[in-house]
Amino acid sequence: MNNNDTPTQKKKLFIKTYGCQMNSYDTRRMQDILRPLGYEPTETYEDADMAILNTCHIREKATDKVFSDLGRIRPHKEAKEKNGEKMVVAVAGCVAQAEGDVILSRARYVDLVFGPQTYHQLPEMIAQITGAYGKERIINTDFPAEEKFDKLPQENGVNGPSAFLSVQEGCDKFCTFCVVPYTRGSEYSRSAVSILDEAKRLVAAGARDITLLGQNVNAFHGEGSDGKTWGLGRLIRELNDIDGLARIRYTTSHPCDMQDDLITAHRDCEKLMPYLHLPVQSGSDNILKAMNRKHTAQSYLDMLARFRDVRPDIALSSDFIIGFPGETDQDFEDTMNLVEKVGYSLAYSFKYSPRPGTPAANMQNLVREDVKDKRLHALQALLSEQAVAFNQSFVGKTVKVLFDGRQTKQGHLHGRTEHNQAIHAEAPDRLFGQIVDVAVTSAGNTALHGKIVISDDELAA
Ligand code: SAH
Ligand code: SF4
Ligand code: F3S
Repeated sequence: MNNNDTPTQKKKLFIKTYGCQMNSYDTRRMQDILRPLGYEPTETYEDADMAILNTCHIREKATDKVFSDLGRIRPHKEAKEKNGEKMVVAVAGCVAQAEGDVILSRARYVDLVFGPQTYHQLPEMIAQITGAYGKERIINTDFPAEEKFDKLPQENGVNGPSAFLSVQEGCDKFCTFCVVPYTRGSEYSRSAVSILDEAKRLVAAGARDITLLGQNVNAFHGEGSDGKTWGLGRLIRELNDIDGLARIRYTTSHPCDMQDDLITAHRDCEKLMPYLHLPVQSGSDNILKAMNRKHTAQSYLDMLARFRDVRPDIALSSDFIIGFPGETDQDFEDTMNLVEKVGYSLAYSFKYSPRPGTPAANMQNLVREDVKDKRLHALQALLSEQAVAFNQSFVGKTVKVLFDGRQTKQGHLHGRTEHNQAIHAEAPDRLFGQIVDVAVTSAGNTALHGKIVISDDELAA
């Protein structure tokens, strides 16, 4: 055994995170698991002792991206080995789950491949490979019966005032375009007690804004402290009582899982922010059916109306897929009409990309690339117009901003408004992590600019 194997010796851990917020949460938890083994996060892979790519498989070229990043890491690993040192190279996340075998056979220098449901076993996996470094390679893409969340350490290395907290994982919806049910497994909710404990630890470590995460977060149905099953609304009501926590958000919801208790929580819970990300994907009932979304354009609009009833100023956001197989000009028009009716504050739109193993990948009537491009362009122009209009409606008003980011420009901070807009302002560093009144001076489609509204005395304090 050489000195590198001593568990307490400091080692450098590089993790690159792709994809959704659940991967960001998982990355932070991997850091938590590896910290007791002496691994400290580093920003660069060049001199890392362990490099993990935490990957996403949602759209095309996902695997190509992973291989090109692996290719960049490889020479550094080889250089270290020439010096008698080691670099463990690992691929985690949804590409690992979907294409683990391909990765191991195409990239001989990858030591470890593990999926989103097995990263709590990292210490055991690392012990196995470091013992026989270069000989033993591991692939661990099981869906273990044990609860990952029960095995994760209590320590939470939250950095900054905004934190993610996964409450639900996996998906049983099987939308015909989507890989998530295959990469993350079936739907599972954590217990409310473990979530509330984790939320309190996050707050004790400095978090003021918590975003509850799940692929179908509003399908949450965890065991409550009273032994009964709680929905997301009930969970939020309990979180609302945590001292020191100022803001609660949740993402991503599915229109079919909305319960009354969650809608009314937007009326009752002052910490629940006026923002809802509710993806619709398409405004055409034909396409929604082919996507297996199990709702219509009208039932989606009716749902949004119920949110607006209890919280008239709620900011709405969505995801759209353009050019799903069989999408006609009329189907696309239906999507544009739906967008016109809603008026979004923000939205994400993607060209459909066929994913291996999903039902839609075998569908006929593919939409031509140039048609997809044209439609995407038109949709994004409309969404951007709506985002500008929404953001500009705040110019001249004062908003409450949680400053949760430092800008490269000295003396400037950025943060989020209650309506989830990004905002930049000139501000002293001591306001980092604080909620501050900011007068909005200008607004574009992606961010606002403002001036903090506190007296010079307070500023100087
Ligand atoms: N659970 C969420 C979505 C998770 S995936 C929901 O049900 O809404 C995030 C987004 O990626 C989706 O909302 C969808 O718009 C997009 N997406 C998923 N699969 C895709 C595909 N095959 N091609 C293009 N976009 C896709
Ligand atoms: Fe994918 Fe549909 Fe599940 Fe969302 S609800 S994760 S889009 S299968
Ligand atoms: Fe991507 Fe997996 Fe999230 S496929 S979007 S990282 S659940």
